[in-house]
Amino acid sequence: MNTVILAGVVLSAIISLPAAYGQSGSLNIIYTGSMNGKLEPCGCSPKTDYGGVARLAGYIARHGRELSPYLLIDAGNFTARDTPQGRLQAEAMLRSFRIMKYDAVALLSNEKAFAEDFLPSLIRRYDIPAVSDSPPYDTSVLVKKDGFAVNISTNPKDYRKDALNIFLTDIPVSGSAATGSWDIIISSSGEIREKPLKTNGTIIVSGYPEGKRPGLLRLQVDAKGDITDFRHEWLLLGGDSEENADVRNVLDDYDSGVAGLLKESGKPPGGTAYLGVAKCAECHRPFVESWGKTRHARAFASLQQAGKGADPECIACHTVGFGEKGGFYTIETTPELANVQCEECHGPDREHIEDFSRPMKPVSESVCLKCHKKDNSPDFDYERYLEKIRH
Ligand code: HEC
Ligand code: HEC
Ligand code: HEC
Ligand code: HEC
Repeated sequence: MNTVILAGVVLSAIISLPAAYGQSGSLNIIYTGSMNGKLEPCGCSPKTDYGGVARLAGYIARHGRELSPYLLIDAGNFTARDTPQGRLQAEAMLRSFRIMKYDAVALLSNEKAFAEDFLPSLIRRYDIPAVSDSPPYDTSVLVKKDGFAVNISTNPKDYRKDALNIFLTDIPVSGSAATGSWDIIISSSGEIREKPLKTNGTIIVSGYPEGKRPGLLRLQVDAKGDITDFRHEWLLLGGDSEENADVRNVLDDYDSGVAGLLKESGKPPGGTAYLGVAKCAECHRPFVESWGKTRHARAFASLQQAGKGADPECIACHTVGFGEKGGFYTIETTPELANVQCEECHGPDREHIEDFSRPMKPVSESVCLKCHKKDNSPDFDYERYLEKIRH
């Protein structure tokens, strides 16, 4: 009993000594969380074309001096899945973190789902300050910057009396509010929280999903280490933002790696389900001509311009039947099935060719919504869009 009280007295004595804590003044925290392997936005629409690691690195290169002292933190779930493409994303993400000199990177649910040896070897190779609740990363990271001491951990019990404490978690904000002793909680639960929440003296923020908006917390810290004031903003890095060349190189490497995936995995899925527009043209020339004037007929060129002509995450919506039997595979093996062709909307129906009195399935709005999702096509409006593709 007595020793507990004594320990409390000694601790509070340490806290009241400003020198033990360090600097007062302003400190900035730039944070990401729940990036889910998204290294950059797809560029499908200018309205959703925000974020990405190359622009973040460009921003930091340009504004680092005025933001200094600052910390860069990823609150976890920066990877998606343990697939061949997911592994390439994970490596490109860690290389980018390395270039930007992230101060701490949490390994949470998505990272834990990777096969055991995969991430540790990359973390060693790129010298990433990783924190997690399992060894060897289960000790908190203590960052010292310009006299500030910042303790960062994913273990709720791991806070320190002599530092500013930042807790990283992927539990949603409402659930993690319980952990009172922390100055800041950064969540990577994937929830969108426009503004920070302040409860029991703890500032809670949540990484914007898919890296679309890195967060910036500007803190005022007094000599006792208490946050006396803070401001929060999202960094809106759109298509006109400057990219960092080194991170761009990492992304270009990633694209070449991805381009190798379809070649490596061997044969395209067999079958002859899709005929391609050339076949339809034999009997529907006027339709083919008017389709040729729509953007659907140039959808593959858009990918090639972006260097993504062999990225399975893109070609699914910019070609015919990708991933299905007899659908698009690569531009080399199935050039006749590039672009959003007739059969993407009307469906493959070989019997129509033998007996064209057989009606094809009617095209409804749900067909469009396969590809015109909110993030890819925020302006989608069935009536208006249908008018533009009428043939
Ligand atoms: C297989 C995926 C897919 C389906 C299904 C699809 N689209 Fe598209 N659509 C695209 C892609 C990809 C583009 C962009 C092409 C480009 O410019 O690279 C696009 C572009 C468009 C555009 C041009 C937008 C503009 O502002 O000019 C219109 C209009 C459009 N689609 C309407 C429709 C309608 C209506 C449907 C349903 C009847 C539909 N689309 C079904 C993938 C699809
Ligand atoms: C879920 C389907 C889908 C996926 C996946 C997808 N796109 Fe798109 N993309 C679209 C649609 C729909 C449009 C047309 C949007 C509109 O104008 O309303 C589009 C448009 C585009 C455009 C044309 C933008 C313009 O204004 O000229 C580019 C470039 C593009 N996509 C690149 C990509 C890249 C790169 C990827 C992969 C990282 C990708 N897309 C993945 C559906 C998709
Ligand atoms: C983006 C989806 C989409 C694509 C791609 C598309 N169509 Fe259509 N098509 C439609 C829709 C929707 C209708 C019904 C239009 C309407 O309601 O007026 C239609 C109607 C038709 C009709 C019937 C017209 C009628 O009078 O009933 C034919 C024939 C046709 N399309 C052929 C084609 C051919 C050939 C291609 C390829 C060159 C093609 N379509 C590409 C969506 C598409
Ligand atoms: C051998 C000639 C021929 C070919 C090839 C052909 N069609 Fe047709 N298609 C027809 C004829 C003829 C009609 C008109 C049938 C009618 O009016 O009853 C028709 C009607 C349609 C319609 C109108 C709606 C319906 O269900 O009746 C659509 C849509 C259509 N075709 C799509 C396609 C597509 C997509 C392709 C390529 C995959 C294609 N057709 C290939 C001859 C052909």
